[in-house]
Amino acid sequence: MVKQPNLENETQSLEYETVLRELKKELTPRGLKYHIESYGCQMNAHDSEKIAGLLTEMGFSAAENKEGADLLLFNTCCVREHAEKRVFGNIGALKKKKEANPGLMIGVCGCMMQQADVAPRLMRRFPFVNFVIGTNNLHELPLIMQRVLQGERPVGVSAQDKAPIVEGLPALRAPGVSASVNIMYGCDNYCSYCIVPYVRGRERSREKTAILDEVRELAQNGYSEITLLGQNVNSYCGGGAAFANLLRYVNDIDGIKRIRFMTSHPKDLSDELIEALGELPAVCCHLHLPVQSGSDAILTQMNRRYTRSHYLNLVEKLRAKKPELELTTDIIVGFPGETEQDFEDTLLLMKQVGFSAAFTFMYSPRTGTKAASLPGQIDEKTKKDRLLRLNALQEEQTRQTNQKYIGKVEEVLVEGSDNRRDTPMIYGRLSCFKMVYFPGNPDKIGQYLPVRILEAHANTLLGEMAT
Ligand code: SAH
Ligand code: SF4
Ligand code: F3S
Repeated sequence: MVKQPNLENETQSLEYETVLRELKKELTPRGLKYHIESYGCQMNAHDSEKIAGLLTEMGFSAAENKEGADLLLFNTCCVREHAEKRVFGNIGALKKKKEANPGLMIGVCGCMMQQADVAPRLMRRFPFVNFVIGTNNLHELPLIMQRVLQGERPVGVSAQDKAPIVEGLPALRAPGVSASVNIMYGCDNYCSYCIVPYVRGRERSREKTAILDEVRELAQNGYSEITLLGQNVNSYCGGGAAFANLLRYVNDIDGIKRIRFMTSHPKDLSDELIEALGELPAVCCHLHLPVQSGSDAILTQMNRRYTRSHYLNLVEKLRAKKPELELTTDIIVGFPGETEQDFEDTLLLMKQVGFSAAFTFMYSPRTGTKAASLPGQIDEKTKKDRLLRLNALQEEQTRQTNQKYIGKVEEVLVEGSDNRRDTPMIYGRLSCFKMVYFPGNPDKIGQYLPVRILEAHANTLLGEMAT
């Protein structure tokens, strides 16, 4: 089941399959339950689905909550410093639990484990952690679990230059209508603040046929919305044109009604891709296009390799092709050397573009990245102050972009239900990614329904079924 492209890996995969079968026989009668705590981005969230798939094949089932789990797995992120502190804190807090229940297995995986020295440090500091597994080693989970069950404390973390593309891992996706699919792994961009290239390794694209087979299978299983994942999808197999072609193929798959993708890097957003966004009916009316800063001086220091005017020009071209397109973005404040004027340039760019939402971050120095040793590190107070000002402006803009929808009838893909209110409510997203709540019953989950938008709140819209 676990398929890898070359012969050596093919042999390895057979070994995993044998181990998987043995574990299944051994573990199924024990009725063990797992719980995965996932941090970070969609890439990690999707890795958690693959881990869940493998654990299911081994005979585990999902626990209802972490209290009921026999295996607790932390899928870590290290993009910002606080993420790391939180994980170490949460693992440390398990000491008593493990003393009370020595059978509890604790594993740690994810990007943080790929950082030099973190895995050995973690194993030393928390002797009750049973195993560590890296982002490139997910397919080795059966072997690792076998060793854990034999009482060992294995650490399976491969160096980034030994990062294979492993096809065929059995992802266990949340039941529903929306599914994520990796199209590439790693990142070669080396934005000067970012740790991802160091922990996720070099950029590798999956074979087009493997991606399309996976999407076809998902469509046959009722998933009609697909999110294509990569750190920079615009450089899939070497360029925006290649990604545009991939979008065309996915668009043509029967049963696929909505295509989303993330993340797009502005330096690689080609005219072919803009063309495809305008033309392809399944491609959603939303683009996440991180700008990071509105100042050319800071963009240069960030090694983003585009200018403010290039970004604004892209926005203009995109809106010319798809006028109703909603844009969202990521912004970092307090990057080393950021002056008040640089920051005001970011505020101004935000006003010029009118993003429908922004993920905003205070710059967090990451050891080993270029920006961590740049002069002009900004103090916490200034960073916080800028973040508050940025968020206040974005809230205002989100409200404005929400207002546009009042009175309109838009199609919602129903994702879930919320029974906490007097009237049973269901919710889902518009093509433009805005979330809409409206009265309805859970039997509507999975359907595309026309909804009249009645009210705009800070982060959501409120409506009623239009038929
Ligand atoms: N490949 C994607 C996602 C990268 S991580 C992209 O390029 O957009 C998601 C976001 O985290 C980034 O867009 C950036 O805004 C933020 N980020 C990354 N490193 C950071 C750091 N050291 N400090 C603060 N924010 C950071
Ligand atoms: Fe990090 Fe830049 Fe790569 Fe995104 S494109 S993952 S911000 S290095
Ligand atoms: Fe975090 Fe890794 Fe994603 S560092 S943001 S989980 S790629």
